[in-house]
Formats: sequence, C-alpha cells, structure tokens
Amino acid sequence: MPIQHFLRLDDFSSDTLLELIERAIELKQLRKEGASFAPLKQKSLAMIFTKSSTRTRVSFEAGMQQLGGNALMLSPNDTQLGRGEPIEDTAKVISSMVDGIMIRTDSHSKVETFAEHSSVPVINGLTDDFHPCQLLADMQTLMEQRGSIKGARVAWVGDGNNVCHSFMNAARLFDFQLTVAHPEAYAPRADLLELNQSHVKISESAISAVKNADVVVTDTWASMGQEDEKTAREQAFANYCVDEKLMSYAASNALFMHCLPAYRGMEVSAEVIDGSQSVVFAEAENRLHAQKALLEYLLA
Ligand code: CP
Ligand code: NVA
Repeated sequence: MPIQHFLRLDDFSSDTLLELIERAIELKQLRKEGASFAPLKQKSLAMIFTKSSTRTRVSFEAGMQQLGGNALMLSPNDTQLGRGEPIEDTAKVISSMVDGIMIRTDSHSKVETFAEHSSVPVINGLTDDFHPCQLLADMQTLMEQRGSIKGARVAWVGDGNNVCHSFMNAARLFDFQLTVAHPEAYAPRADLLELNQSHVKISESAISAVKNADVVVTDTWASMGQEDEKTAREQAFANYCVDEKLMSYAASNALFMHCLPAYRGMEVSAEVIDGSQSVVFAEAENRLHAQKALLEYLLA
C-alpha cells in the first residue's frame, strides 16, 4: 500500500478529515480529564524546520510526548541539508530511523520530493503554498463553536497566501462558501481558484466580502520569506485591515480567525483580535489536539 502523506488538505477525503476532527475533539476531552493515552509508544517524529515557528513546533513536540512517543527538532544547522545534502538522500536516511516526518520549509516541491523518497508518512508543517495542519485546527474550532461548518459564509480578507490556499481547499472539502478579497497583485493561485470554483469566489472589496459573513479570516500581509517586501505590502494592503468597522458588515455573531502570529494595527486591529468575536487562541490550542489526531491516524 502506498504511504499516506499529509502535504495538502485534499490528500485526505472529506470523510477522513471529518473523522480526524471528531477524534481531535475526543482527544482534547481526554486530556482535560487527565487521562493517559499512549498509542505512539516507542515512535519518533523527526521535525525539520527551515523557518521559524512557535505553534507548529510546540504542538507537534508536546503532542508526540502526550501520545507516548518522542519528537526530534532539526533546524537547518542540525542536518546536512543546510550544507547541500540532497533532499532525496536525506529522506531515505531519516525515514529509515523514525516513524514520521514533519517538515516546514519554503518551496512546496521540496516537501513533495521528500515525501516521494520517504518510507514513512510526511506531514506538511507549512510551505510557501499550503498550511494544511492549520486548517485541521481551524475546522475543529469552527465545529466546536458552531456545531457544523457546512454552508457557512466565510470571508478571507488579505493576502492570497499559503493559509488562504488551504482555506480554499477546505471550502470544497468541508462544503462552505469562501469569499476572498485581496489587493490586485496578491491573488491566490489561479489553479486553486479553478479547482475550488464551486465554493470560492473573489470579491472586489473587503467590505463586499465581509457582508453577512459568519466568519472573517485574515493573516499577516508579509509571510515568512517576504520580509523584503514588507513596506510595499503595507501600502498595498492598507485598505485590508480587519477592524471594528469592517467587522460591523459581518453577521452580528461572526467569528474572527487568524492563524497567528498576528500584527496588531496591520492586518487586524487590537480591538478585533482581542475582542469577544475572536477565536484565535482556541485555533492555536487546537493545533495540539488536531495534530494528535493526525499523528494517531498516520503513525499508530
Ligand atoms: N500558525 C502557525 O503555524 O504558527 P507558527 O508559525 O508559530 O508555527
Ligand atoms: N502566512 C504565514 C503563516 C504563518 C503561520 C507565513 O507563511 O508566514
């Protein structure tokens, strides 16, 4: 049987994703009860990071430990990848010694190459194109808040980036309607718009995207690797700040989401992210529970 990897949200069927989220909610409850559950005894997860992380690193490491296994943190200086050892060779070697591999890096094709040569499951912990683990946690959060995601109206305000791409895939897989508002030069990938066209549309302004939305989502204007574009992006995105005025166009009980890290006064105002409609810290906590369900599914 081919090895199951999790590089994009649509590597899994809608049914599998829903089962994972239900399991994540169960695992969250088990942890609250203080129950010990160790299906990953003796199992190791290698975690390769070529970009910074707080949530992804801590949730995978703590998650493995809580499931009875262990995690190895490998930053660029910890492996020969940083000195030019081919991805193919690295994948063969590391996968011969561990039970799963999580990778956060720039180009998505690097993760695909790694997975092709790995003998164990590979998990995408964020690339320039996708962030599927974030969407597991976000869908869990919406499920907990609203019971169901089906048919919800979700507005994405800002950059057509990696998290936006994963939200677009989520719209199709979880059956909600996503409206994306972005500055002209910062559109999401055209092939993903086409793939998800039944559930995703583009709006010409932030206000029209947010009108009557049940959920408003944004992300940083300058993702990791785009530090040099920061000033140009701040100008281009000036009309895309999610503030109280913009939120007033959404449904009165609309939720605000952000994967974090957030920049108050840029993509979101402090009043909104720290206000009563914000679920950003629930999303962050759910990274732990959703990924434990993923680890159990792939590694147990
Ligand atoms: N949301 C997210 O992936 O956060 P980190 O960059 O801290 O891992
Ligand atoms: N779009 C952001 C997400 C960080 C979790 C980035 O890629 O930097």
